[in-house]
Amino acid sequence: MVPVSQLSACVTPEATLDQPVEHLRACHRRIEQRLEALERGAAGLGTQPDEARAVIAKSLRFLETNGAWHTEDEEQSVFPRLLAKIAPGDREFLRQLSEQHERVEALVARLRETPLDDPRFPSAAADVARAYREHIAFEETRLLEVARVALNPAEIAEVAAEMKARRGL
Ligand SMILES: [Fe+2]
Ligand SMILES: [Fe+2]
Repeated sequence: MVPVSQLSACVTPEATLDQPVEHLRACHRRIEQRLEALERGAAGLGTQPDEARAVIAKSLRFLETNGAWHTEDEEQSVFPRLLAKIAPGDREFLRQLSEQHERVEALVARLRETPLDDPRFPSAAADVARAYREHIAFEETRLLEVARVALNPAEIAEVAAEMKARRGL
């Protein structure tokens, strides 16, 4: 059993921060759950506004904390360690992922700035969900496998330590 102090919202007992690559995958599933909740909330604003607002607030908070940490894990801890040792094609893949990170971040920021009663809110939420899902699917085509092959045990331990520090653990 993993002590509660070692858990972040993305961590399951099978994917602790000591197993960074598995943790990234587990975090993708949690992000997808929150995207689904976000869209559900956006769709329910007209009929069940109180419940919808609470679900939206919780989902946005998750994306801005755990979602942002997850992107930092990749951009600051994983990608730099991979860049030195991967093939040019994989370096291009990482560049595309970074571009997608910026796009998703901008869409989340736009959604945060859109008032809930703005008729554009549901489509702004749908844009976040679509871009995030597409990014995750694209990332999972190669990133986890590349990381597994390229990172040695010492680097994995360094990544894990940085991920914990990022979360104040
Ligand atoms: Fe990513
Ligand atoms: Fe990711």
